[in-house]
Amino acid sequence: MSEIEWSKLSFGYMKAPYNVRCTYKDGRWGELTVSDSEYVNIHMAATVLHYGQAGFEGMKAFRGQDGKIRVFRMDENGKRLISTSEGIMMAELPLELFEEAVMKVIKLNEHLVPPYESGASLYIRPVLFGSGPQVGVKPANEYEFIIFVMPVGPYFKEGFKATPFCILRHFDRAAPYGTGRFKVGGNYAAGLKAGEEAHSKGYSAVLYLDAREKKYIDECGPANFFGIRGNSYITPKSESILPSITNKSLMTIAADMGMQVEQRPIAVEELKTFEEAGACGTAAVISPVSRIDDLDDNITYEFSKDGEPGPVSKELYTRLRAIQYGDAPDKFGWITIVE
Ligand code: PLP
Ligand code: COI
Repeated sequence: MSEIEWSKLSFGYMKAPYNVRCTYKDGRWGELTVSDSEYVNIHMAATVLHYGQAGFEGMKAFRGQDGKIRVFRMDENGKRLISTSEGIMMAELPLELFEEAVMKVIKLNEHLVPPYESGASLYIRPVLFGSGPQVGVKPANEYEFIIFVMPVGPYFKEGFKATPFCILRHFDRAAPYGTGRFKVGGNYAAGLKAGEEAHSKGYSAVLYLDAREKKYIDECGPANFFGIRGNSYITPKSESILPSITNKSLMTIAADMGMQVEQRPIAVEELKTFEEAGACGTAAVISPVSRIDDLDDNITYEFSKDGEPGPVSKELYTRLRAIQYGDAPDKFGWITIVE
């Protein structure tokens, strides 16, 4: 493993020596187990395969200048997995078991946490799915929880550079009372075609609008959206978007910087009043947006001509990363040190 070029990593799968698993059977969760296999052996009638009964999480651990490993807001991910499980009727993994699994998988693969200088991090992917058989459309009686890790670099290959996004009205990601607010696999399958069309036209991602009226901004395929106007941090409020932990953290940081934080419906036309725009998420961190092309209305909203992120996005990014890498005090209590 010593040959990994940490600073050249992109966001992609890499085999780690160990993953941690837990099975739900006969109405209860078993013990955490350690596996060195990348494969799962499941029933061909498992609900995950036919009815998409699956949810996942994404979180990161960072190595600080002091050599310590810090995990960011893992309780929030554990709670969101419970909410996802409730949303699609999966067995709920208790928070303590989730946190124990996170700690265990990091420790087992500690050598894969990138060095501080590289700017890379360890991506942690918990996944939970119905593994028991059903042919009628019903929740499974058995579930598998697996958590695996890999070192990663930036989600969008440009890193912390502004890139173009687009609005495509002929695709929806999630319905108003659908599963958009849960982190379920089906939401991502539903977004693959739109993402592919955006990529083929040179955009980093799609900026989805609300499915009911196509009037308000929802979020991007893999991240929430925010805009900056003057001293305000403005981000959509919607029933059909994932409650991003990064966005929640940026709202706290923005308020701490003395900014006004507005979480409310954002009409598409309001984009023209923003000085900066960005996508935010665990994988995306802050991915600044250079321009948004509304491909149906033929309107371009421009935020950065030279790819340089705006000053507020830069400040938010710097403050968030400083907490994550331990360069700034953990004043909001977001960090767990892996002992
Ligand atoms: N929105 C979607 C659809 C996502 O997949 C993600 C990634 O997890 C986010 C937003 C950002 O959420 P978080 O900041 O919790 O990673
Ligand atoms: C994350 O940011 O962790 C995500 O899950 C987004 C994407 C990779 C699906």
